[in-house]
Parts: sequence; C-alpha cells; structure tokens
Amino acid sequence: MARAKTVAVTRSIRETASQRPPFLGFGLGLRPQHYSDILEASPKVDWFEAISENYMVPGGQPLRMLDKIRARYPIVLHGVSLSIASTAPFNENYLKDLKTLAARVEPQFVSDHLCWTGVHGVNLHDLLPIPYTREALDHVVARVHYVQEYLGRPLAIENVSTYVQFAHSEMPEWEFITELTKRTGCWLVFDVNNVFVSAFNHGWDAHAFIDGIPIDRVVQFHLAGHEHNVSHIIDTHDALVPEEVWELFRAAVKRFGPVSTIIERDDNIPPLADLVAELGTARTIAEEMLAELKQERT
Ligand SMILES: [Fe+2]
Repeated sequence: MARAKTVAVTRSIRETASQRPPFLGFGLGLRPQHYSDILEASPKVDWFEAISENYMVPGGQPLRMLDKIRARYPIVLHGVSLSIASTAPFNENYLKDLKTLAARVEPQFVSDHLCWTGVHGVNLHDLLPIPYTREALDHVVARVHYVQEYLGRPLAIENVSTYVQFAHSEMPEWEFITELTKRTGCWLVFDVNNVFVSAFNHGWDAHAFIDGIPIDRVVQFHLAGHEHNVSHIIDTHDALVPEEVWELFRAAVKRFGPVSTIIERDDNIPPLADLVAELGTARTIAEEMLAELKQERT
C-alpha cells in the first residue's frame, strides 16, 4: 500500500516536472536590507528569490515581511542547508520546516545546491564539492527522490562553484547533473557565475558545460560577481556581475532561451536601486540574445 502510494507520488512529481515552470522574468535575491524599499517603492523587479532558512520559523518579522512581499510578487524558495549529497541522514526537522514554509509561500519552485554542507549534525555553512562518480550519482538520485516525495513537488538543483576536484571522479560535472535530472525529473538552477568560476579554477571549458546541460530542464539563471585572484577565482557574490560572466550569460540565453533570471548578491549589499539598474543589464542582454535567436530560427 505504502509502496503504491510512493509510486503514485513519484509519477505525479515527474508529470509536474516534465514541464518547466513559467518564465518569471528578471528578479533579485530577497535581502532584509531591502524589505522596506520593496514595500514602499514597488521597484521594477519581476520576482524575488527568498533564502528558505531565513523564514523556516513559526513567526517573527522576517516571515511577516515575506508574506507582504509574496502578496505582490512571485517568490522562489532557495535553500542552502539541505545537504542533498551528504552521506549523513537528512535532518527531518529541516525537511518538515521547509515543507511548512513552502505550503505558506506557495513558491514557483524550491531549490538547493548540488553539494554537502556538513556531517554529524554540524552545519559548516559552506557548499562543499562532491566526486562525480556513479556511486555518488546513485546516492544523490535516491536523496533527490526522497526529498521530492517528502515535499510533494519537484526540486530544482543548482551547480556550485568549486576549488578542488576529486581525482576519482568518473564524469564531468555537466554529465553528472544531466544524469541526475534524467533519473529524478528534477529541475536545474544554472548559476552562470559558478560555471565561470569552476571552469577557470579547474581549466575546463565553460561552454562545454552549457552545451552539456539539457535545454528543457533549466528553470533559473543566477548571476553574480566574484573575486579574481589571477591564479584562481573566489566566488564571493559581493560585486557587480563582471563582463566575462555577462558573456557567458549571453551564451546561456542563446542555448536555453527565456529562463527566469536573478542577480544574486550575498555580501556588500548595495542600495536596491543599484541592483535594479544592474538587473536592467540582464534584461537588455537577454532581450538582445532572444531577438538574435528568433532571427536565426526564421
Ligand atoms: Fe547561485
């Protein structure tokens, strides 16, 4: 009986996941520094991405703000502590609180990262890399299935930026991600900056990553800045989107078409108006690339 129910839930999640959620336009990561400006000025932002962990509580000011902003804008929930690739058991309280939050917010989708964030109940607050092996793939596939069934909705999984690779990896990152989405039906958040950072740090071709990811699975782009240290790049998310990331964004829009996009600033947070202006650049670039794409297809 329980098995039949699980199969039915899995089938219904696959059906939902088989179509991409609607194109939301151009949004921003929701940051507490901007709550009052958003509510007072209703800026030209199409949607917001809220960090799930900031609101996984029964009440309080942040949740009240989120409710008010949700009343005006579409919201996506983006987590940083699911630890989908960890070998430690899931934190069931975390999953319960995430499900409760998703029921309250009714987000367009729920996302987190392809990484692990801790062991033995300790959250290291970092998005740590995994080996791209068949064994790890089986493990993450099972964990994504589990979370999707628990939440009753597809997950969107994001590529992280990395500074080390595992010598025993058996496939490139994009192949691992492609297999993951094929086997679980999960959607993908494509962080353009993270692809740029990892490609530079490891010496692989960022365009091979773009070309290796299935077109119909990407539901969101992340854009951000980083710190270039000549020999390596640190993914700081604390600066303007640099030209080389805009270049990669052009290629990503050309391949994936219209995809909901945000600028994700995590540190050195500027006034909201500055981010809205930077978002205008994303909008303009995407429109140009989509017009080019349309022309090439006619
Ligand atoms: Fe990101």
